[in-house]
Amino acid sequence: MHGHDHGHGHDHGHGHGPGGERRFPFEKMGRLDALERQVRQPAHALVKTISEPLEDGRVPQRLVEIGVGTGYFALLWLETLPEAELWAADVEPRMLGVVMGRAMERGLARRVHFIEVAAAEAERIPALEGTFDAMLMANLLHEIDQRESYLTDLHGKLTPGGRLVVCDWDPRASTDHGPPVDHRVPIEEARALLEGAGFTRVEERPLYGDFYTLVAS
Ligand SMILES: C[S@@+](CC[C@H](N)C(=O)[O-])C[C@H]1O[C@@H](n2cnc3c(N)ncnc32)[C@H](O)[C@@H]1O
Repeated sequence: MHGHDHGHGHDHGHGHGPGGERRFPFEKMGRLDALERQVRQPAHALVKTISEPLEDGRVPQRLVEIGVGTGYFALLWLETLPEAELWAADVEPRMLGVVMGRAMERGLARRVHFIEVAAAEAERIPALEGTFDAMLMANLLHEIDQRESYLTDLHGKLTPGGRLVVCDWDPRASTDHGPPVDHRVPIEEARALLEGAGFTRVEERPLYGDFYTLVAS
């Protein structure tokens, strides 16, 4: 284990074993809420996009964030959609513990369900029961190895008219923070993956300088 720090805690060989070597380490969770991040990737911009009414005019009710982290986006999402329920999924149980505590503080706990993804199943779709109106993968796609099958499975979990939003590091953006360039998934590749997974409409939203955002339905 050598552990170069690329400024975002994405150390190589962090000891997560096959398939998890790009995974964000819990020990660096402070970075997910840091002021610097709030400047680079303010939560409200993405939350506005993921809260928009669906094609048929329905307001999203059943929400899921995969790789919820500390709930940086998810808790604001719930506050924005007061009738909605959120399924918070993560492979790191301590992240779910953080989300639980914060949801309680913010009076949201009643509307949050927790899905602990077993490490051995992290490359498949976790125990997501039922279908969802809106799904979020924020800064997660680059951590997944089996992207094609993963996104195909997610597509199958959408309600008619539902959407998946993928926001991730742009390889062309600066590398003084975030994962190394060779870990990042170019937007063209992300788009092709989504189309290959069955999404027929994939739109880019220019929300952030260092991250691209794709809305797929
Ligand atoms: C870089 S953090 C981003 C957290 C959050 N989405 C945000 O934007 O603040 C990635 C998160 O995804 C989780 N994760 C990584 N691979 C996962 C997988 N296959 N299934 C579920 N969670 C995963 C990590 O434990 C971590 O909490």
